[in-house]
Amino acid sequence: MNLTTKYLGLNLKNPIVIGASELTNSIESIKELAQAGAGAIVLKSLFEEQILMDINSERLNNMTGAYDHIENHLGFYLKTHSVQQYLNLIKEAKAAVDIPIIASINCYDENEWIDFAAQVQEAGADALEVNLFVMPADVAMTGEQMEVNYMNVTKKLLEVVDIPVSMKLSSYFSGLANFMHELSAVGVHGLVLFNKFYSPKVDIENEAVVANSNKTSSHDNANTLRWMGILSGRVECDLSASTGIHTSEDVIANLMVGATTTQMVSSIMTNGANHITSILKDLEAWMNKKGYASIDDFRGKLNQKNVSNPMMLERAQFMKYFSE
Ligand SMILES: Cc1cc2nc3c(=O)[nH]c(=O)nc-3n(C[C@H](O)[C@H](O)[C@H](O)COP(=O)(O)O)c2cc1C
Repeated sequence: MNLTTKYLGLNLKNPIVIGASELTNSIESIKELAQAGAGAIVLKSLFEEQILMDINSERLNNMTGAYDHIENHLGFYLKTHSVQQYLNLIKEAKAAVDIPIIASINCYDENEWIDFAAQVQEAGADALEVNLFVMPADVAMTGEQMEVNYMNVTKKLLEVVDIPVSMKLSSYFSGLANFMHELSAVGVHGLVLFNKFYSPKVDIENEAVVANSNKTSSHDNANTLRWMGILSGRVECDLSASTGIHTSEDVIANLMVGATTTQMVSSIMTNGANHITSILKDLEAWMNKKGYASIDDFRGKLNQKNVSNPMMLERAQFMKYFSE
């Protein structure tokens, strides 16, 4: 059975990628995931925000703020320190396992992380996944301004590095299909759809806004599945499905609507690395039952271009007979 997949120009032995998370933050865990059969690893992101928060100064919470002399030194020290640790993680991961290692950075604007992206490449990362997000909460900021910001970061990164670049994005775009197509047209090698954010909930007992659980379930995959199906065959880059992929059925469904790879985090956190092995076994059994010899035999078979009822992927409103 041929499970091989080409993602971001890299040869993966199978389409299961372990997404950026605490799972991919240590060499021991990375080795365990590789041993259990993961096709590739996305390292935990290095967050600009996280580094600034470490300094614990209100003034430094302003991502682009000017610092006074002492803070500037402190900021420089902490930033260099964290960056160095991350570069070491890349080097050690590359030495420890023989599957592709994709570094991940989190950025907000086109200045702060550009040098770091070049260092990620020098450290030996096979590709770079960029977790780029600005919460569209500013009433003065238009969607167009947001898109210009995203596009500027993307173009700058593509100028700075030669390794493949994928963008991990949210679905907060009013012209989602158009913008994803534009990103692919400027040369992005992959789009990771979609990011899942830290979300708030209300504790009614203590009357406070608190953090929600970070983990997903298969139900959370619906939005990703829809957009995979719509964008597959319409953008010029790879598509990596993320959020709510828990079972072999989820993996197969996302491949069928056109995903190049499927990223998993929550289900591996819950079930352990061996869950990868059993999903691969189930995937092979399903392919065997269906008579598919390779992933390419069924990838995209149910995307919007190929499916017999394409409107099912776009349908958003409940008609009467659907709601009964
Ligand atoms: C504990 C935890 C840490 C995460 N850290 C990162 C991160 O550093 N960078 C990132 O891009 N996504 C991060 N994510 C998001 C995951 O990579 C993934 O997009 C999300 O969990 C949805 O996938 P899932 O449904 O398989 O969990 C994190 C998720 C969790 C649960």
